[in-house]
Amino acid sequence: MSKRNQTLGEFIIENQTSFKYTSGELSRLLNSIRLAAKVVNHEVNKAGLVDIIGNAGDTNIQGEDQQKLDVYANDKFIQTLTKRNIVCGIASEEEDDFIAINSQDENHQNKYVVLIDPLDGSSNIDVNVSVGTIFSIYRRVTPIGTPVKIEDFLQKGSAQVAAGYVVYGTSTMLVYTTGDGVNGFTLNPAIGSYYLSHPNMEFPEDGNIYSVNEGNYSDFPIGIKKYIKYCQQDEDERPYTSRYIGSLVSDFHRNMIKGGIYMYPKSTKNPKGKLRLLYECNPMAFIAEQAKGKASDGFTRIMDIQPTALHERVPFICGSKNMVEKAEEFMRNN
Ligand code: AHG
Ligand code: MN
Ligand code: MN
Repeated sequence: MSKRNQTLGEFIIENQTSFKYTSGELSRLLNSIRLAAKVVNHEVNKAGLVDIIGNAGDTNIQGEDQQKLDVYANDKFIQTLTKRNIVCGIASEEEDDFIAINSQDENHQNKYVVLIDPLDGSSNIDVNVSVGTIFSIYRRVTPIGTPVKIEDFLQKGSAQVAAGYVVYGTSTMLVYTTGDGVNGFTLNPAIGSYYLSHPNMEFPEDGNIYSVNEGNYSDFPIGIKKYIKYCQQDEDERPYTSRYIGSLVSDFHRNMIKGGIYMYPKSTKNPKGKLRLLYECNPMAFIAEQAKGKASDGFTRIMDIQPTALHERVPFICGSKNMVEKAEEFMRNN
């Protein structure tokens, strides 16, 4: 029975028995993520004070400039998960290939792989706007005790065991699901503990916020263009209001609380969309569905898509159920 003000540590232990697999390994994994997120939070809060903002001078495999905080957050999450020897593999937005973790113990029994976007919304770092971290957890499909393979990572979103995000906003929150609803915890920075502040989070079935980078409008598919015009029509409860932070975690978080839809469609510049299926869309889709919302590429449920590559991109429409269904209707009919 979850209680407000319960700490995240207490909550994880108390709910351990309701996990599908109850070896305690997943609890230890979530605890590691909680710890790494605290360290990254500390650094994010110092941005501007120390030499941590700006470009790290390198690009990732996707040709994007890496910010110093991208690199810092990536290192912290990988270090925490590797040193504590809890997972058998990690894939990250900032790593070309997946990392296989070979435990010194030859009989290592680690079952889980983690996929992360260590720092989401990195274009917002330099301007003091919310950023986040996204994570997704699967059970490996190859035999325990052997090195992980690519197929351990290329699983459909529907096979996720847990997923979550951290939003480094006006306060820092960790929101996650293990397939039994969504709970949000707020960090008390004075004490360094997360407390259950948002039990059983749910998207309102309808909403009045639409979030999309309208600068790309002229390149959008006709169905999305028409849906945006629908959002802007003065009719019934419309026009909706437009809100776009440019960091998926923060836009999603607001929409889940207030009711809304987030869209990153394909365009000429991004013919497959921009967001990455494995460590951005799938975890957010899992959280959305667990919170009674929906996530789709316009036609297909995100979590039903069979991934074929670690860094593949997909168009993403996610949010309040009725809004996503309406956008899908426009996609189907245009
Ligand atoms: P990342 O910082 O991890 O590369 O992700 C950025 C993503 C996502 O957070 C955000 O919603 C989107 O890119 C914003 O893209 P635009 O600037 O093209 O709108
Ligand atoms: Mn991202
Ligand atoms: Mn990122």
